[in-house]
Order: sequence, then structure tokens, then C-alpha cells
Amino acid sequence: MITNSPARIVQNEVGSPEQKNLQIRPEEILKNIGPEMDLLEKFIIHDIDTDVELLNTVSHHILLAGGKRLRPALVLLASSLFESIGESPLRVAQVVEYLHTATLLHDDVVDGAETRRAQKAARQIWGNEASVLSGDYLLSKAFHMLTTLRNLELLQIMSRTTTLMAEGEILQLTREIGSEDEDVYLRIIYLKTACLFGSAAQAGAVLAKAPPELSEALKRYGEALGMAFQIVDDALDYVESPKTGKNHGTDLMERKMTLPLIHLIHNCKADEKSFLLDLIKEKQIGSEQLKEVTQMILRYESIEYSLGRAGDYIASALQETEQLPQGPARDSLEKLARYVLSRSH
Ligand code: IPE
Ligand code: IPE
Ligand code: MG
Ligand code: MG
Repeated sequence: MITNSPARIVQNEVGSPEQKNLQIRPEEILKNIGPEMDLLEKFIIHDIDTDVELLNTVSHHILLAGGKRLRPALVLLASSLFESIGESPLRVAQVVEYLHTATLLHDDVVDGAETRRAQKAARQIWGNEASVLSGDYLLSKAFHMLTTLRNLELLQIMSRTTTLMAEGEILQLTREIGSEDEDVYLRIIYLKTACLFGSAAQAGAVLAKAPPELSEALKRYGEALGMAFQIVDDALDYVESPKTGKNHGTDLMERKMTLPLIHLIHNCKADEKSFLLDLIKEKQIGSEQLKEVTQMILRYESIEYSLGRAGDYIASALQETEQLPQGPARDSLEKLARYVLSRSH
């Protein structure tokens, strides 16, 4: 078990003293849009029901289990940089959370996940078929809602994003096991995670009719945030933390070539490298092997390396915020960037 938490490591690695507020929690950061976030929560739950009982059960199971609501918060914050939050950004935020939740239902089937949002993954209770079909339902529901806004630009942004996300998941699935190419890893996480963060922030700005250069800056901010978010997620996967609400070590079990493992393979000794490649390619991976690999990851400081890379993306995200209108929304976007680096779940 790794006892160094990414949050603790990051305290020594990244950010100025003011940036190292490790107590930050998303709810606090989003306090200035608290009433809108509450309304969003009502919308998310209220609009999901159908006449098909199993769909309601699965949707409620995952949507009521919490979730940080970071992506919808990006829509609302980006919009509130330019005008007060009306119905449209709330609806788009809702759509973004449905899209994200749909990808989680699908992802848990692909990854064979046991837990999600600190409870049993839907597939564990109702099976893979019900999980995939409920994901399809949420995805379709999201796009149907989006059409009611009659905003072609938004439809283009979101449909392009979901297409890229599907490409990312397939690219990850078909990637050669043992591949140590960092660029392929970065491409995958851009597709599967960062582009939705980018589109969420861009969508909020587009709805508020922000100047195009600022919509683009918000898109780049969201993408950089999303890259860092996924790198931290991949680092947290090697850390035993009850707060993530997910089992740890699953990426290794799934033979996912994430940044900590890529760094380890690049930096360990030749005999350790062949042990690792052998393990990933051929052997059964049990808890003993996981322990051995996590100890190597610690020894070669692969978590620190990964968090350093995440820190670079956060620095780029913060650079983008400099051109945005000053005020509480911009402050929250900046705090969110720092939170992503220090998060423990
Ligand atoms: C999980 O995202 C999927 C990744 C991109 C790592 P979140 O960690 O934002 O999941 P919830 O919505 O808070 O459960
Ligand atoms: C993110 O990848 C999945 C999506 C973008 C849907 P992961 O597979 O790492 O996400 P978790 O760890 O299962 O949440
Ligand atoms: Mg997964
Ligand atoms: Mg993960």
C-alpha cells in the first residue's frame, strides 16, 4: 500500500504556497454558484424518469450516488463569467452530466469495474447489458434535450466530443499491451477525458455569447484541466484511498498503460523492465504482484513524475484564465484548477 498520498506528494512538488491549499473541496469552490448547483441537481434527477422501470432504477442508482459534478460546474462557471446563469446553461450542464454518466456506465463494463461512486457499479447489480443500455439511454436523452435548445453550434460541439470520446475508449482498448509510448497515452486521455472538460467550459461561454477568443481560451482551459484530472486519476489508481469510491489497482489489473506505469518502465533497470512486461503481457496479476509494482512505482517516484506532468497542465490552464473577466467565477475556475492537483478523490 502506498501511504504517500498524491495530495501530500504534490504539496512538495507543484504550486506556490498560496496554490497549495490542500483543504479545498469542490463544494466550497462552487459556493458562489451554490443555488444554481442545487437547481441543477433537481433537474438531473427530475428529468430522468421513463416508463421503463429498470432504466429508472439504474439511472437513479448512479445519478443519486453523488459525483463531483465538475463538468456541469464548468458550464455554469464559464457562462457566469459573462452573464447571470439562466435556464439554457443549466440545461446544458444537465446534458453534460448525463453524457459523463453515460460514459461511466459504459466504461465500467469495458473495465470490469466493481465499484463506482463508492457503491456497487451498476453492472455488478443489473449486469453488463443493462449498464450499457442505460448508458445509451442517458446519451440519447442528453442529445434529445440539447436539440430542444435549437443551438446548432452547441450540438456540433457536443456531438464532436462524444465521437472523440468513443474513439479514445476504443484506442485505449486496442492499444498494444506493454506499449510505453507516452504520446499515445496523452492522446487517449485527451480523447476520453479532456475534450469533454474543454467542451463543457466552451459551451458555457458560447451560450453567454462570449467573444470567440474567450470561448477558445475557456476550451483550452478545460482541456488542460481535463488532462491533469485524468493524470491525477491514474496516479490515484495506484494509491489505496477510500475516498475515491473506486477499487485501487484496477488499471494494472486491466493492463492499462497509464503514466505512472509508463514512467516506471522507462526508468527501471533492465531486469525489472522484463519482469514488468512479462507480468503485463502474460501472467495473472494478483494482489502480491500489485503490491510489488506499486512499491516499484514508489521507489522510482513515478507518482511524483505524473503529478509533475499534471502540474504543467494546471499551469497552462491557469495561464488561460488570465485573459478572462475578473470576478468570483474566474476565482472559482482558478481554484478548481488547484483542486484538481490536490484532490484525493
Ligand atoms: C471519473 O470522473 C472518470 C474520469 C475521467 C477519471 P469523476 O472523478 O469526475 O467522476 P464523478 O462524476 O465525480 O463520479
Ligand atoms: C476515464 O477513465 C473514463 C471515462 C472518461 C469514461 P478511467 O477508466 O480511468 O475512469 P475510472 O477510473 O474508471 O473512473
Ligand atoms: Mg474505468
Ligand atoms: Mg481510473
